[in-house]
Amino acid sequence: MSNLPTTAERGSLEGAEADTEAARASRRSEERLNALLHALPDLIFRQSLDGTYLDFIVNSPEELLVPPAALLGTNIRQMPIPAALIERMLAGLRRAILEGTLEVFEYELEVGGRLQHYETRIIRSGPEEAVCIVRNITERKRAEERLRQQDEELRRHRAHLEELVQSRTEKLLQTTRELEERQMQLIQAEKLASIGQMAAGVAHEVSNPMSYVLSNLSTLCQYVSALTPLLHLQQELLVAQGSMPLAAREAVLARIEALWKKEDAASIVDDMPALLQESMEGARRIKEIVQSLRMFARDDSGEAQLADVNTELESTLRMVWNELKYKCTVERDLGPLPMIRCHPTQLSQVFTNLLINAAQAIETTGEIRVRTRHEGNEVVVRIADTGKGMAPETLSRLFTPFFTTKPRGQGTGLGLSVSQSIIARHQGRIEVESAPGQGTTFTIRLPVTRA
Ligand SMILES: Nc1ncnc2c1ncn2[C@@H]1O[C@H](COP(=O)(O)OP(=O)(O)OP(=O)(O)O)[C@@H](O)[C@H]1O
Ligand SMILES: [Mg+2]
Repeated sequence: MSNLPTTAERGSLEGAEADTEAARASRRSEERLNALLHALPDLIFRQSLDGTYLDFIVNSPEELLVPPAALLGTNIRQMPIPAALIERMLAGLRRAILEGTLEVFEYELEVGGRLQHYETRIIRSGPEEAVCIVRNITERKRAEERLRQQDEELRRHRAHLEELVQSRTEKLLQTTRELEERQMQLIQAEKLASIGQMAAGVAHEVSNPMSYVLSNLSTLCQYVSALTPLLHLQQELLVAQGSMPLAAREAVLARIEALWKKEDAASIVDDMPALLQESMEGARRIKEIVQSLRMFARDDSGEAQLADVNTELESTLRMVWNELKYKCTVERDLGPLPMIRCHPTQLSQVFTNLLINAAQAIETTGEIRVRTRHEGNEVVVRIADTGKGMAPETLSRLFTPFFTTKPRGQGTGLGLSVSQSIIARHQGRIEVESAPGQGTTFTIRLPVTRA
């Protein structure tokens, strides 16, 4: 496209070469070119090096800054365009004509009272001229601006969402921390409640052996006072040896014999070993109970430690024995178990609650079976009772905090929910099987982790 065919040129072409084949071909090609040029929405100008308009095709005359008739022969400097833009266009024109470059630039211009965006392309079309194609890109610019705004909106939205997620995560973490703290407080409160529940029983357990130890000691004191004069008389005889006159010796012997009979020393001597034995037994029992109490009072809220579940169960059974002994027999079937890493006091708290629940479920008399096994990689503890069992509605709410069927003031309803959270802290499970009148079996599974 070196020259835009003008109307005059088109007329002369028709006259001169009408009858030759080449002319017809050239005309057809020209027609196609014309159609193409007139189909383009752009303003197309031919301009000389100094910016004079030589020719143009304008398919949207409303875009022109001067009437089409006034354009030919006019110089760009006479156009109502800002001076800076004119200089830019002239510079582009010069570069395109003299250096053969394709010049492309965008600018804004007020046309018909509205700001429009244009893209101009300038390309050399002869030794002293170039073709300028001016395209209105206002719509494209607006679409780009809309897209940019949408992008910005999206970015703001995303940032807001991220902020929201961040703040929710922080809140969630905070709530989790608070929940964990509350759970520990609940465990602690339940522990205090079980201690309270046990205190009376423990006092009884201690007072029983203590009272017979005391009574034995008082009998032993009487025995000692009865035997002391006899021992003194024996001592007299031993010290005097052969130097004592016969009559005096016989008098001492007679006193010994009389005293022996009077104090019934034979039965005292017989009775003493049994009394001592029984007192030793009582003292040992008290020592055991005190030790169990000390174990229960241990604070193992921190680091887990290696412990034997059977030992913990035995110690718990000793502690709660007073609560159980009037109503039930306890059958122990404790299998060999590996040591596990756990919080022993907390496990003891779970066993206490299960054993006391079992005893409370037995209305008159019954049996509690405690069984431990090492199954696979788990320590399994089963506590079964022959108590009244549970209806499905009780079973479904069993682990809900404060759920209790016991009379006011008797149960807090925290035992099982706290037990469940303790077992969960040990990565274990607690399961229950029960039916009304069929007794209840609780099964605790604890993973064996030694590390
Ligand atoms: N072995 C069981 N047999 C029958 N019912 C049981 C048994 N263990 C628990 N329950 C039922 O589950 C309820 C909740 O038990 P949980 O130990 O959580 O609380 P509680 O024993 O009522 O009160 P707390 O343990 O605080 O003294 C009990 O009130 C009881 O109805
Ligand atoms: Mg309970």
